[in-house]
Amino acid sequence: MSNENQKPTSPTEQAQSSDKVSPFLNSPLPQGTPQGQQQTLQQTLTDTPVNGSVPKYNLPRGAGNTGNVGETTHFGYSTVRTEDKAQKVAEVFHSVASKYDLMNDLMSFGIHRLWKRFAINMSGVRRGQHVLDIAGGTGDLAKVFSREVGPQGHVVLSDINESMLNVGRDRLIDAGCTNVDFVLANAETLEPFADNSFDLVTISFGLRNVTDKDAALASMFRVLKPGGRLLILEFSKPVFEPFSKLYDLYSFTALPIMGKLVANDSESYKYLAESIRMHPDQRTLKGMMENAGFQNCDYHNLTAGIVAVHRGFKL
Ligand SMILES: C[S@@+](CC[C@H](N)C(=O)[O-])C[C@H]1O[C@@H](n2cnc3c(N)ncnc32)[C@H](O)[C@@H]1O
Repeated sequence: MSNENQKPTSPTEQAQSSDKVSPFLNSPLPQGTPQGQQQTLQQTLTDTPVNGSVPKYNLPRGAGNTGNVGETTHFGYSTVRTEDKAQKVAEVFHSVASKYDLMNDLMSFGIHRLWKRFAINMSGVRRGQHVLDIAGGTGDLAKVFSREVGPQGHVVLSDINESMLNVGRDRLIDAGCTNVDFVLANAETLEPFADNSFDLVTISFGLRNVTDKDAALASMFRVLKPGGRLLILEFSKPVFEPFSKLYDLYSFTALPIMGKLVANDSESYKYLAESIRMHPDQRTLKGMMENAGFQNCDYHNLTAGIVAVHRGFKL
């Protein structure tokens, strides 16, 4: 009996039920490798899937927890067990994946596109380069990098969350990006990727969701080639106090309401507002990058510090 009319049950299936169906949709990530890119992917992966087995970097839901059992961390304003945070973040992004791009445009009035454009301009990406976009979700950055690096270059769109990565994979395949690979990976370990393998590593609106940010920064340093650069685009601390109050009002009232109306999920957007307030400010993050080994670190505030782009080099 055909099961075509059955409603999808899992978040992954819900994401896969979008009307744009990619030819790779039913193959497990990261085996949805665009033709011709397998060789390039092998060069940057530390492990190769053995016939029929699940590659170890193909993370199950909720995997990738770090920290000792019994320790606590923050999840927005809540305190949770460290080993539970990744699962809670996963639930947020499984829930919002199909409405993520629409919500981004609505919540930021489209300004997130300008922030991303600014970060891409700061990246100095060139033709032929190898780029890793971590926590890349629906692929906004990877899509532009794909064009900028050209056919001789290579981009990896990576995320811990299968629902988000499936949306990104469909979108980039539909856009004809043939030099992009899609890999499930935890930013904290970047286990699939070999040392010194990328010219540019980016993480856009992803770092604040990561439980162990120091471990993530160390992993980013590891996978960058000497001479490579890291760009972090993330919400930050507004620098103008009166504006900050207005911004708080907007974040804690309007965002959850919009989340409820558009994505039928106010809690995830409440988490968004809270997680932004819990993220290290500009100077703290710069210090963390320096501790991880990055040099010549700097940052640029955008929209009065609502967002900042941090940049550091592996020399
Ligand atoms: C707000 S979205 C950002 C997506 C995209 N980079 C953008 O700028 O639109 C945050 C992404 O971080 C991912 N994420 C959260 N924790 C992660 C982790 N530990 N490792 C990798 N990705 C993670 C989520 O799955 C989600 O796709």
